[in-house]
Amino acid sequence: MPYDCAGAEDCDPLIAGITADSRRVRSGSLFVAIRGHAADGHRYIPEAIARGAVAIVAERPPRPHLLFPLPSGSSAAYLTVPNGRRALAELSAEFYGNPTRKLFTVGITGTKGKTSAAHFAAAVLGETATELISTVTNSLRRHLEQTTPSPEDFQRWAWEALRQGKRNLVLEVSAHALHQQRVHAVDFDVAVFTSFSQDHLDYFPDLEAYLESKLRLFRALKPAAVAIVHLDDPAALRVLQAIPAATPTITYGRSAKADVTAEDLALGLEGTRCRVHTPCGSFPLTLKTPGPFMLENALAAVGVGLAAGVPIDRIRERLEGVKGVPGRLELYRAKGGFAVAVDFAHSPDSLERVLRFLREFYPRVVVVFGCGGDSDRLKRPLMGAIAARLGDYVILTSDNPKGEDPRTILQEIEQGLCAAHPQAPYEAIPDRRRAIERALSWAGPGDCVLIAGKGHERYQLFRDRSVPFNDLEFLVKLGALERGPDGAPAA
Ligand SMILES: Nc1ncnc2c1ncn2[C@@H]1O[C@H](COP(=O)(O)OP(=O)(O)O)[C@@H](O)[C@H]1O
Ligand SMILES: [Mg+2]
Repeated sequence: MPYDCAGAEDCDPLIAGITADSRRVRSGSLFVAIRGHAADGHRYIPEAIARGAVAIVAERPPRPHLLFPLPSGSSAAYLTVPNGRRALAELSAEFYGNPTRKLFTVGITGTKGKTSAAHFAAAVLGETATELISTVTNSLRRHLEQTTPSPEDFQRWAWEALRQGKRNLVLEVSAHALHQQRVHAVDFDVAVFTSFSQDHLDYFPDLEAYLESKLRLFRALKPAAVAIVHLDDPAALRVLQAIPAATPTITYGRSAKADVTAEDLALGLEGTRCRVHTPCGSFPLTLKTPGPFMLENALAAVGVGLAAGVPIDRIRERLEGVKGVPGRLELYRAKGGFAVAVDFAHSPDSLERVLRFLREFYPRVVVVFGCGGDSDRLKRPLMGAIAARLGDYVILTSDNPKGEDPRTILQEIEQGLCAAHPQAPYEAIPDRRRAIERALSWAGPGDCVLIAGKGHERYQLFRDRSVPFNDLEFLVKLGALERGPDGAPAA
C-alpha cells in the first residue's frame, strides 16, 4: 500500500492496537480515520491523539490545521493513504499476522440463508475445530448486533481462534461489509452464495448496486479457492460470471444440473428427509431443521464440506447432528393445541417462503410481524401484502423501530396490505408483547402462530433506548408452550 509518511522522522512507533473508533483508542493505538456513512473520522483525530494514539492513518494530510488541528507537541506519526477503509482492513490483518491465511476460511453471502448456511457449514467442518462468526454467535456470545464485524474485531477474533487451536473459520459476509471493504485482506478459501432478493434499498441506490456489492466476494477469489453457488437462484448466473476462470465452482440446489442436489424429498414439520447426490457419491439425509430453504442452506454446507475434503459419511453425520439454528423456523407446541413458530423472516422473500411452508401443514396461520425502522421502506407494503395473501389473520406490530415512530412503520405496512387485499382481517398492535398475546388468544387447536422478524434477537431497539426482549423467552414467560426450548422443539 502506498503509505505517505507526512514529515514524521520517527515514523515507526510501537503500535499497541488498531481502531477506527476514537472511543476505543488507548495509549499506543493506531487510529484510522474513515469517511463513514454518517460521520467523518477525520474530525475525531484530535480526540484520538488526546486519548493516546501514537499513529494516525488518514485520507487527508494533517493540513489545513483548521480542519483537524493536532495538539501542539503531539508526536503521533501521521500517514496518508488513498482509502482509509482498505488501510484499516490491511493494517488489521497485518497486525494480527494474517490469521485467515492459516485458517481454512469460509465466507457466506446472500440476502437470505447466510446464518443458517454458516451454522451448517461450521457443523460440517467440525464444531470444535471451527470458529463461527455469524449474526447469532455475534449477538449471543459477543453482544454485537452486526452480521460482519469491523476488520479490527474480525482479525482479532480470527487470531484468537488460531491461538485456541481452531483450524477453520466460517464468516457471514454482508453486502454492507463488502461495500465497506471490511473483509478486504481476508484470505478466503471458500465463498458461498445462498440467495439474492430485494433488501437494503435504504443503503444501496438500487438492486444492481446491491448485487454488485455481493459479487465482490467472488471477483476477489484466488485460484486455489472454491466458489459455492446456489444454482436455483435467479442471480446465480451473475455470480458464476463473476468468479475468476481459474477458481473451481461447486453448484448446489434442486436443479438436476447442480453438482450437489437432493431428491426424494419428504418435507415435514420435524425436518426433511431426502437423498443427497454429490460428485463424491450419494447419501440419505435426515435434517432436523424443517423447511425447503433450510435444506438448501444445508446443501451449501455439503459443498463446503466437499471443498474442505470432509468425507461424505462424515458430512452426513454432522448435518444430522444439527438440532436447529436459533430463531430460524423454530417450532413449538402451545398449550392451546396449536403450534408457534419463531422465525427471523424480515424480508418479503423470506416471509413468503416461511408462510408457504407453514400453510401446507396448518389450516390457519396467524402472522405477527413488523418491519425495522431506519431501513428499507419499500419492503414494508410488500410484506403487508404477502402476510395478507398467505396468512389467515395478520397482527402488525413493532420489530426494531429504531429512530422511527412505530405507528408510521405500521401504517406503511398497512397500506400495502389493504391495497392488495382490502378484505383481509388484520389488527395493528404496536406493543409486541400485546400483539403476541392477541395472536395466542386468536389461535385455536390445529392452527399455527408465526412470530416473524426477530428470531434470536435479545433486544428491541427504539429511538432512545434498547429494551431486553426475546420472542421465545416471552412465550416461555407467558407459560404458553407445552415444552420449554430445552425440550425437543415440537410441532
Ligand atoms: N435460502 C433461503 N432463501 C430464502 N429465505 C431463507 C433462506 N434461508 C433462510 N430463509 C429465511 O430467512 C430468515 C433468515 O435466515 P438466515 O439464515 O438468518 O439468513 P441471513 O443470515 O442471510 O439473514 C430465516 O428465518 C428464514 O425465514
Ligand atoms: Mg445473518
